[in-house]
Amino acid sequence: MLWVLFLLLICVPILILLYYTRTRQENEPPLDKGIIPWLGHALAFQKDVAKFLSRMKEKHGDVFTACVAGHYVTVLLDPHSFDGVLHDNIRLDFSRTRQQLIKRVFGLQLPGIEPAAERMFMETHFRGVCLSEMNHSISSHLHELLLPDPSGQSEWRREGLFSLCYRLLFRAGYLTLFDSTQDVTAVYKEFRKFDHLLSKLARCSLKGGESRAAHSSRKRLWELLSPNNQHSGEAEWRSWQRSYQRFLQKEGVDAEMQKRALLLQLWTTQCNAGPAAFWLLGFLLTHPEAMKAVQSEMRGLSLEDSSPQHTPSTARVKKAHVTPVLDSVLKETLRLTAAAMISRDVVQDKVLRMANGEEYRLRRGDKVCLFPFLSPQMDPQIHQEPQLFKYDRFLNEDLTAKDDFYKDGRRLKYFTMPWGAGSNMCVGKDFAVTTIKKFVLLMLTRLDLEVCDPQARVPPVDQSRYGFGMLQPEGDLQVRYRLKRTTSS
Ligand code: HEM
Repeated sequence: MLWVLFLLLICVPILILLYYTRTRQENEPPLDKGIIPWLGHALAFQKDVAKFLSRMKEKHGDVFTACVAGHYVTVLLDPHSFDGVLHDNIRLDFSRTRQQLIKRVFGLQLPGIEPAAERMFMETHFRGVCLSEMNHSISSHLHELLLPDPSGQSEWRREGLFSLCYRLLFRAGYLTLFDSTQDVTAVYKEFRKFDHLLSKLARCSLKGGESRAAHSSRKRLWELLSPNNQHSGEAEWRSWQRSYQRFLQKEGVDAEMQKRALLLQLWTTQCNAGPAAFWLLGFLLTHPEAMKAVQSEMRGLSLEDSSPQHTPSTARVKKAHVTPVLDSVLKETLRLTAAAMISRDVVQDKVLRMANGEEYRLRRGDKVCLFPFLSPQMDPQIHQEPQLFKYDRFLNEDLTAKDDFYKDGRRLKYFTMPWGAGSNMCVGKDFAVTTIKKFVLLMLTRLDLEVCDPQARVPPVDQSRYGFGMLQPEGDLQVRYRLKRTTSS
């Protein structure tokens, strides 16, 4: 008790001193310290970062510095000026904060690995020949999961659309990248428990019982992901998981950290596609005009031709991928529901040059953040009625992709950024786009799928997920479905 009192007596005055000594210097962005010393805006930031940052944007404009739990975070919300942050790898560092987060969430430390070496590994394994093999493999798994019903006797089933999409895409994604010797259903069940608590784990806001659940789930996943060498066959040895493990071994990572790294990669590769497919199908099922447009486009495609059993002509394969309407629907879905935070540590004092000619000084030791969800994605100056789902927002009248969007009269380079940008942009983008499109087309051709309540809308988002990639719903959208007897071609 005496110790607590002693610490309070020492710490509180230090915090108050630190709070009052930081003042806005010439040429620095507006400074907002909040009213609570040291803590600043931490609670609002934690609760709903999107709401907090829109409030700050209204108050201060496109650039400001906020105090968040002892850190000074400069937030930049003008997409015209993003390049000054995204391409400065000398004064800004992206790996420091990431490593702290990875340690906290995944218990993982990889001090010996150069971020550039890991990035190179990822790029090699998600592009070119590897990408074609992965596309082929996931396509086979999706086809197997949604085989047509030969008897035509398939029963109607009810399920939440989120749980249905996440379950199916996780299974197909896992079997494509990871060792299939493990029990996929057990991995998925444990993964969902862990994923549910992940944002709280990252923000250190778990309550007692939740903390125990998150740590036990994490431990169980480490065990489940440990490779079982005795039972693995040829296919497992060639899997992406094994290549990644060989990369870690070559870099001198010990066995314990290897299995922890596998959990990080399981999360990175599996946590976005399922939720994205959910939102996309959810928007289609609740917007009949969008569904009509997609279905009409689908009638022009031959899905059978692109199934893994066939070896279709190049022209046919190309045709199967030309889906301007579905592409626009996917971009619009991601505009509304992809909400990663791009964060950098300022490691040397820096002058941030804004597109309008203004200059701001950033201090060494602070952080700088972009939150593309707020701008460009939800910026009313760029996208009219940004809160509405408009399936043809990214489509020109002649069915080409619309990519001319403007802010302050100037055309934008970044008008939507679901995949991040710069040195840690999503390396799985091409794989993810192909997978989601394939999944949606199969769901719509192989299933009779409808919302249980015709008046239902997509559920609201779980606000705690802002900053962690794809958003997830608060609740679910109940659907009923059954396998069709044959696929439409
Ligand atoms: C809709 C689906 C997806 C979205 C919206 C998405 C988005 C993102 C974003 C924003 C990042 C950067 C995260 C950061 O700043 O740290 C990222 C990183 C990454 N993504 Fe994706 N992703 C998706 C699907 C996938 C899939 C299916 C894979 C692989 C199977 C994948 C693999 C990766 C990897 C390996 C990284 C780390 C890149 C690095 O740190 O250099 N993503 N993703």
